[in-house]
Amino acid sequence: MFEHMTEEEARQHILKEVGEYCRQFHNTGKPFRKGDRIPYASRVYDEKEMTNLVDSALEFWLTSGRYTKEFERKFGEKLGVRYVSTVNSGSSANLLAFNALTSPLLGERRIRRGDEVITVAAGFPTTVTPMIQYGAVPVFVDVTMETANIDVTKLDDALSSRTKAVMLAHTLGNPFDLSAVKAFCDRHGLWLVEDNCDSLGSRYTLDGETRMTGTFGDIGTSSFYPPHHLTMGEGGAVYTNNPLLHKIIRSMRDWGRDCVCVSGQDNLCGHRFDGQYGTLPKGYDHKYVYSHFGWNLKATDLQAAIGCAQIDKLDGFTEKRRHNYAFLRQQLIDRGAEEMLLLPEAAANSEPSWFGFLMTLKKSGIREQTVRAVESAGVQTRMLFSGNLIRHPCFDEMRAAYEAGDAENAGFRVSGTLDNTDRIMRDAFWVGVYPGMTDEKLACMAEIITEAAAGALH
Ligand SMILES: Cc1ncc(COP(=O)(O)O)c(C=O)c1O
Repeated sequence: MFEHMTEEEARQHILKEVGEYCRQFHNTGKPFRKGDRIPYASRVYDEKEMTNLVDSALEFWLTSGRYTKEFERKFGEKLGVRYVSTVNSGSSANLLAFNALTSPLLGERRIRRGDEVITVAAGFPTTVTPMIQYGAVPVFVDVTMETANIDVTKLDDALSSRTKAVMLAHTLGNPFDLSAVKAFCDRHGLWLVEDNCDSLGSRYTLDGETRMTGTFGDIGTSSFYPPHHLTMGEGGAVYTNNPLLHKIIRSMRDWGRDCVCVSGQDNLCGHRFDGQYGTLPKGYDHKYVYSHFGWNLKATDLQAAIGCAQIDKLDGFTEKRRHNYAFLRQQLIDRGAEEMLLLPEAAANSEPSWFGFLMTLKKSGIREQTVRAVESAGVQTRMLFSGNLIRHPCFDEMRAAYEAGDAENAGFRVSGTLDNTDRIMRDAFWVGVYPGMTDEKLACMAEIITEAAAGALH
C-alpha cells in the first residue's frame, strides 16, 4: 500500500483514515431517554485528539518530545504563566509542587521536616499526602458551607512560628478566597501552592486584574485524568512564574538531575565535562550529576499529543461548564430543591469553571437514602472525595497519637474545629456538569435529585 508513497504521504494517509474512523465509530451518541445513565464526567474529544495520538505513535519518540514542548507552550499561553512542566498525573504535580519548596536552593524559606503547611481536610488526599510523606505537618482548617473552601476567618489562628506555606485546592472549580489567602501569605512570607486540578479555566479578579486560577500562588498544579477539564488519559502539569522554582521542579521531575538537557539531548550548555559538583572528580559528566533527590514523573509524548488537541477546546469547555452549572441550579430552584438542599455559590470575585455541582442536604442523616435513590434513577453521584481526610484509615496511627496528645508522632494539627468539614462528609454529594451534558439531561437530573431528597425527607 505504501510502496509509491513518501513517509510523509503515508503518514497523512493513515491520519486521514484515523479521522474517518473516529467520526464513524466514536461520539456517535444515541438520543437521551429518561432512565438512561447520566455519568458525572466523561472525556469530550473528536478526531483531532485521535489523529494527534496516532501521529505521535507513528513518530514513536514515546518519551516527552515535540508534542510535550508544544503543549507546555500552549498551556502557558492559555493560563498566562511562564514555566510549565508536564507530568504523569495531578498527584505527581502536587508531589513536585510541594517538594520543590523543600529544596536547599531556597535557603531560609525552604520547608523543613516539622514545618507546618496550612490546608483543609475536605478534599482530595494527594493535596496533603506529599506533606506527610516528607515529614511536614499539615494544619487543617475548617471550610465554609457555601463554597466548601477554606474559611479564611480562621487563617490567623492556624498560624504558628513554624508555618511555611499554604497549599489548597479550589474545590470543584470554585476558587477559594484568593484575595484573603494571598494577602495572608504575603503578610507572613508564606509560599502559596494552588492545587488547580479541579479548576482549570476558572477566573478570579484580584486588585482589578482578572487571571486564571493556578497563577496567583507560587506554584499551580493540574490533573488531566479523564473526568477533569482537559484529559490526556493520565497526566498533569506543574506551573510557576518563578525561574528558580521552575529549575527545582524540572530537576525533581527528571530524577533529581542538575543538567537541563531534554530527553535525547547532550551538552546543551557546552560544559558537560568541565564542572565541579559536590565532591565529585572535576569534569564529572554533568548529565549524571544530581542536585536533588528526585523521581521520574514525566509524561509521554503520546499523552501530550492528546493534550495539544484538548487545550484548543478549553475555552469552549469552560463556557459549557458555566452554562451547565447555571442551568442545573435554576432547574433545582424552580423545583423547590432549595428547601432541602444547600446549593453551591460562586465565590466572590470569581467565574468558576465548575468541575462538579456540590449539594448538602439541609436535614442531616438522609444522604445515603437520597444518593441511593438518585443512583438507582440513573444519575452518577460522587462524594467530596475524602470528606474529612483525617477520618480515613490512612490516618489511624496518626489520629491515635494526636488524640493521646503525642504531637510529635501525630504529624498533623487541627486548628479550631472541623464541624463544616464533617457536615460535608456526612450530608453532601455532587453530580456532574461536564461539557458533554445536555440541558435535557440536566433537567432530568434536577427532577431526580429533587424527588429523591423529598422521598428521603418523608
Ligand atoms: C483536587 C485534586 N487534586 C489532585 C488530584 C489528583 O489528580 P490525579 O488523579 O491526576 O493524580 C485530584 C484528582 O482527581 C483532585 O481532585
